[in-house]
Order: sequence, then structure tokens, then C-alpha cells
Amino acid sequence: MSEKQRIAIVTGGTRGIGAAISVALKRVGYKVAANYAGNDEAANAFSKKHDIPVFKWDVGDYDACVQGIAAVQQQLGPVDTIVNNAGITRDAMLHKLTPQAWRDVIRVDPESMFNMCQPLILQMREAGFGRIINISSINGQKGQMGQTNYSAAKAGVIGFTKALAQEVAKKGVTVNVICPGYIDTDMVAAVPEKVLEGIIAGIPVGRLGSAGEMAHAVLFLADENAGFITGSTLTANGAQFIAG
Ligand code: CAA
Repeated sequence: MSEKQRIAIVTGGTRGIGAAISVALKRVGYKVAANYAGNDEAANAFSKKHDIPVFKWDVGDYDACVQGIAAVQQQLGPVDTIVNNAGITRDAMLHKLTPQAWRDVIRVDPESMFNMCQPLILQMREAGFGRIINISSINGQKGQMGQTNYSAAKAGVIGFTKALAQEVAKKGVTVNVICPGYIDTDMVAAVPEKVLEGIIAGIPVGRLGSAGEMAHAVLFLADENAGFITGSTLTANGAQFIAG
């Protein structure tokens, strides 16, 4: 960290991987705003435990993001680091997938990239510094049965990252994407037990990843010394899928 006080927003920052990211950023000196969508009880408990302010809005809604970001900046100051972590699943084989389940995932997972970055990007360009770290998934890289919606959404996150990285490269703003594999969170715990056993058997490291391990990757990319690392895709999946 530099002398300059860095200020980060972590979407979906009160549970799972996002909570670990919020805590890790705070530990190394950031002012952190942890966004969440619905679970007030978990968010308030998180806020109290870690002394991190929480902000409720729906990252699938552009206007809500504009308002939420304004509230964060009013309380904490100008945001220079965005961790677009919020994401949802609505798993079903395509023949059983409803239009609603398709739209829900597209609305939140890739659209939140636009909704969160567009309102802040001019400010970052003008400041000559910014860090944007998007959380995709192994399943956006390799595809996953039962997840046509989520795989499409998370592949979109990778494309968004690569395009924006080029737009802002000369402005001191880096944009990178992390593709976690199967991490020990509520989202993965929802996978049917028999299926999950099979998935873990296919992970060469022999276990699920931890949220803390994903947070460690975020700290690396957020660091001021990571200025030449942009447009990159960091896979963190225990060698389950090795992308070229
Ligand atoms: N890997 C291997 N086989 C799988 C599988 C997987 N991930 N998912 C489903 N299958 C297999 C099942 O074992 C089953 O095989 P058999 O017929 O031989 O028993 C077959 O596909 C059909 O599965 P179900 O009987 O469960 O069918 P269903 O229609 O009731 O449910 C499903 C289908 C919704 C896809 C369900 O199996 C499921 O939830 N699978 C897990 C999908 C998954 O991996 N989701 C990841 C969630 S975590 C996440 O997304 C975070 C991240 O970024 C990694």
C-alpha cells in the first residue's frame, strides 16, 4: 500500500468469497464498503464483527448502483478499487431452464460489471489510477452442465474485462479477472452432495478452495505494484481446469 488512502467497494462483500475479500482489503489498510443485496441479518452481523460499513443495493440495477456508489463515496471518499464479486446461480439443464432463471443470472452476473464500472470509470481515468477486479468462474472458462446461464454470464465477465482493460490501460487503471474453481462457500454447498463428491474427486489439489485464497489473489491484483498486470485472467481452481 502507498501513503494514499485507498477506497474499495466489494459487491456481494458480506458473505462467501466477497466477505473474505472485504476483510483482507481492510487488513492491508483499505477503507472498504461491502455491498450486499438482500440478507440484512448476515450483512449486519458481518459489519459488526469486522467493523466494515455495509451498503444495500441490487447490482443488477444500474440506477441503484449509481445511487449506491454515491452513498459510498459520500461516506468514505473517492473509490479507486472495485471488486465485482456479486454473482448468483440458477442451475438447471437447458431443457428445464426457465426464461426467468436465464434472465436472473444474466441480469446480475455480467450486467453488474457495466452497472458498477460505468459510473466510476471516468473518475478513475481522471485520477490516473484505478483497480478493477472481476470475479468470473472456472465455469465461464470450461462450461458446466446445468449452467448454460451461469457459464455464458461468467464468460461474458471475461470478455468485459479484456475490452475495458484496453480502454483504460494508458490511464493507470488495471482491469483483471479471477476465475475461482469450486470454493468452500454456501453457493458450492448447494450443489447436490453426490455431484459435489464427483467434482472434488476431479480437483488435483484434492479439496475445495477457500475464500481466503481468493482474497489473496485479489490483494495481489489490487496492489499498486501490479500496474503492468492488466487484461489478465487468473485461474485459481486447484488445477481442475488448466487454461492456456
Ligand atoms: N459434474 C458431473 N456430473 C454432473 C454434474 C457435474 N457438475 N452436474 C450434474 N451431473 C450429472 C449427475 O450426476 C447426474 O448423473 P446421473 O444421471 O449419472 O446420476 C446427471 O448429471 C443429471 O443430474 P441430476 O440427476 O442432478 O439432474 P437434475 O436435473 O435434478 O439437476 C443439475 C441437474 C441442476 C445440473 C444438478 O445436477 C446440479 O446442480 N449440478 C451441479 C452443477 C454445478 O456444478 N454447479 C456449480 C455450482 S457452484 C458455482 O457455480 C460456483 C462456481 O463458480 C464454481
